[in-house]
Amino acid sequence: MIVLKTDRELKIMREACKISAKALQLVGKAVEPGITTAELDELAERFIRSCGAVPNFKNYEGYPATACISINNEVIHGIPSKNRKICAGDIVSVDLGAMYEGYHGDNAATFACGEVSSEAKRLMDVTRQSLYKGIEAARPGGRIGDIGHAVQEFVEERGFSVVRDFVGHGIGTKMHEPPEVPNFGTPGRGIRLLPGMTIAIEPMVNAGRYGVSVQPDGWTVLTADGSLSAHFEHTIVITKSGPKIMTDPDD
Ligand code: MF3
Ligand code: CO
Repeated sequence: MIVLKTDRELKIMREACKISAKALQLVGKAVEPGITTAELDELAERFIRSCGAVPNFKNYEGYPATACISINNEVIHGIPSKNRKICAGDIVSVDLGAMYEGYHGDNAATFACGEVSSEAKRLMDVTRQSLYKGIEAARPGGRIGDIGHAVQEFVEERGFSVVRDFVGHGIGTKMHEPPEVPNFGTPGRGIRLLPGMTIAIEPMVNAGRYGVSVQPDGWTVLTADGSLSAHFEHTIVITKSGPKIMTDPDD
C-alpha cells in the first residue's frame, strides 16, 4: 500500500532527508586520492549519529556499513573497506541515508577524484541531469511511467544506458516502500502520482550496456561489460504544485 504523508510527517522526514544530504555532501568533499572507502564511511556514520539519527543502510538485510561506495565499473552496493583506496581519476558513487524519529532519507551522488576522463565527466553530467528530468516528470496526476520515461529518454539519446535490475522506491517510515520507481518506462503507464507521495528516484547509468552482475561478496553490483557507471538519487515529495526535493542539504 502506498502511504501518503501528512504535513506533520513530511516535516520530520525533511529532517531525515536533510541529515542524509549533509552527510552525502560531507563525504563528497572528503573524496581525494589515498583516502579509503572505510574512512569515508566512518565520516558519514559519525556525522549521522551526531545529528541524533541512525544510518539506515547498516544491518539492512545484513548490509555491514553506513554507505555504499561504488567505484568506476561498480554500479551500486560497494562495501566500504580499509583496503580500498580511492585513486586520482576514479569516479566514486556514494549512496547513504539516515533515519530520524522513525522517518527515512536516502540519496546518492557520483563524485570525481581529481581529474577524470572526459567520458567519465560526461557520464556523471548525464546521470545527474537525468535525475532532474525524472524529478520534473513526477507531477501530481501523472503516472510512475512518466518518471522512468523521462530518465530513459534523456540517457539513451546521449548514448548511455539505464540499469534495469535495480530501481527507485517509495520511502517513509521504511527505507523501501511501494511503489517501485524504475528509471525506464512508458509515459501514462503505472500507478498514479498523488500529493503526499514520497519517493526516491535513483538513475544508475552505464557508459556501455545496461547489463550488470553481482560480485561473490553478494552485494557489489558491477557493469557486465566493464564500462563505467554513475548513480544519483534524491528523495522527493510530490506536492499539489509539483515535485519537491527533500534531500537538499541547504534550503
Ligand atoms: N540506498 C539503496 C537504495 O537507494 C539501498 C541500499 S541497500 C543497503 O535503495 F543494504 F545497502 F542498504
Ligand atoms: Co534508494
